[in-house]
Amino acid sequence: MSKKMLERVLSARRAAQFSEEGDEDDESKTRKHISFATRATNYLTRTGYLWPCLFLCLGVLLVSSLIIHSRNSVCISSSSDPISRMRFFGFDELESDFGSLGVPWCRSKHGRTVEWTSKDLLKGLEEFVPIYETRPIKNNMYGMGFDHSFGLWFITKWLKPDLMIESGAFKGHSTWVLRQAMPDKPIVSLSPRHPEKYLKKGPAYVDGNCTYFAGKDFVDFGSVDWGSVMKKHGITDLSQVLIFFDDHQNELKRLKQALKAGFRHLVFEDNYDTGTGDHYSFRQICDQFYIRGGGHSCFKDSDEARIRSRRKKFWEKAVDIDELCGPGEVWWGVRGQMRDDFNHSNKVISYGEHIQNSRFVESVLDVYWELPPVAGPSLTHQMRYDPARTPSPIVEDGRFGLFQRLGLTRLETSVFNGYTQMVYLQISEQDS
Ligand SMILES: C[S@@+](CC[C@H](N)C(=O)[O-])C[C@H]1O[C@@H](n2cnc3c(N)ncnc32)[C@H](O)[C@@H]1O
Ligand SMILES: *[C@@H]1O[C@H](CO)[C@@H](O)[C@H](O)[C@H]1NC(C)=O
Ligand SMILES: *[C@@H]1O[C@H](CO)[C@@H](O)[C@H](O)[C@H]1NC(C)=O
Repeated sequence: MSKKMLERVLSARRAAQFSEEGDEDDESKTRKHISFATRATNYLTRTGYLWPCLFLCLGVLLVSSLIIHSRNSVCISSSSDPISRMRFFGFDELESDFGSLGVPWCRSKHGRTVEWTSKDLLKGLEEFVPIYETRPIKNNMYGMGFDHSFGLWFITKWLKPDLMIESGAFKGHSTWVLRQAMPDKPIVSLSPRHPEKYLKKGPAYVDGNCTYFAGKDFVDFGSVDWGSVMKKHGITDLSQVLIFFDDHQNELKRLKQALKAGFRHLVFEDNYDTGTGDHYSFRQICDQFYIRGGGHSCFKDSDEARIRSRRKKFWEKAVDIDELCGPGEVWWGVRGQMRDDFNHSNKVISYGEHIQNSRFVESVLDVYWELPPVAGPSLTHQMRYDPARTPSPIVEDGRFGLFQRLGLTRLETSVFNGYTQMVYLQISEQDS
């Protein structure tokens, strides 16, 4: 079967599925069912055969479900590698995996969201893949992979800031991404080690129009005199500035520092899920009972506990209830801790503080947007992050034709392993 045909078949299947679930179809089918069932029941009741018939039906159901069950378990145990196990579950199952445990998000004050649509993201992907292929740092282990590189590029290109600031440069890959989005705008980069230091050992990127607060000139974001930096760059409107954080610091701390300086547009690269990561994140902060998919119970016999322990076998970064919960049933943050600075510092927080933190974030938030994964795991072959805690990908499972047309098959699969819910925050204007 040709690729195009396969795609058509898959989308036809999807369409069929859709109409099966569609209201009209469903209703008429149920109606027919009901009338037949009612008639049959009436007949059996009249003739006195109702109860024997019911028992027979139950027996048949039980036996057939047992057969299906044992077949399933044989299949699972015989396919040992994770990808073929994924295939066993099929595309449809995978698609429904997205967000199946729930995807917490931070509420914004007026319920606003971003202007861009999934169509814009697709168009962006088409443009970005060839750019990404020209990246100077091919192997960026410990730095950004494809998903977040795309996210940062897309958001930056959309917002068109007059100045870009990054905290956490490593070898300079993210500096390069910012440069691709805005070729003529200045960058300010803060990082303890200057990216040029990496040039001796291999590829790195040093930008010609970037002011580096690095090496002996390093200053932490929270200690920079931003007023004078803005003056130097002729910036009078702080809403024209985009900040990118990839420095593994407590994100609540960074938000407060950004607020103090008056910045409005922030991107955080590592927006770790609850129970994971080396610094406190917005995803963790907004994981609250009043949000769908938010709030957890440490009860070991719950549905969530069962689902989590099953998923942990498939996905490297998935956490089960034992990992999610610390002593005293603390699950918020990372087992009740607010981590900071690559986990070099961590502070225990109470449940009350956890709630207060989200209230605070919500009180200053105009927009919260998590970048979806670029493509489904059956396409990217990523096995790290669990799709049960992410929104649906831009290119959904089963859409191989699209995946290929976008040029994504040309990339090494390892570049898809770094997804951690990169987030864009728009902060409301503060009275000063
Ligand atoms: C994950 S790496 C950044 C990866 C990079 N953005 C990329 O695209 O490849 C984290 C970087 O943060 C730097 N860092 C550590 N503490 C920092 C701080 N307080 N402020 C800014 N950067 C910091 C580290 O030296 C490291 O280079
Ligand atoms: C820096 O940017 C300015 C325009 O903003 C441009 O004229 C200049 O050539 C750039 N310098 C380098 C080294 O890229
Ligand atoms: C983070 O720090 C805590 C406390 O120092 C330690 O118990 C834990 O193992 C660390 N976690 C990681 C992933 O390094």
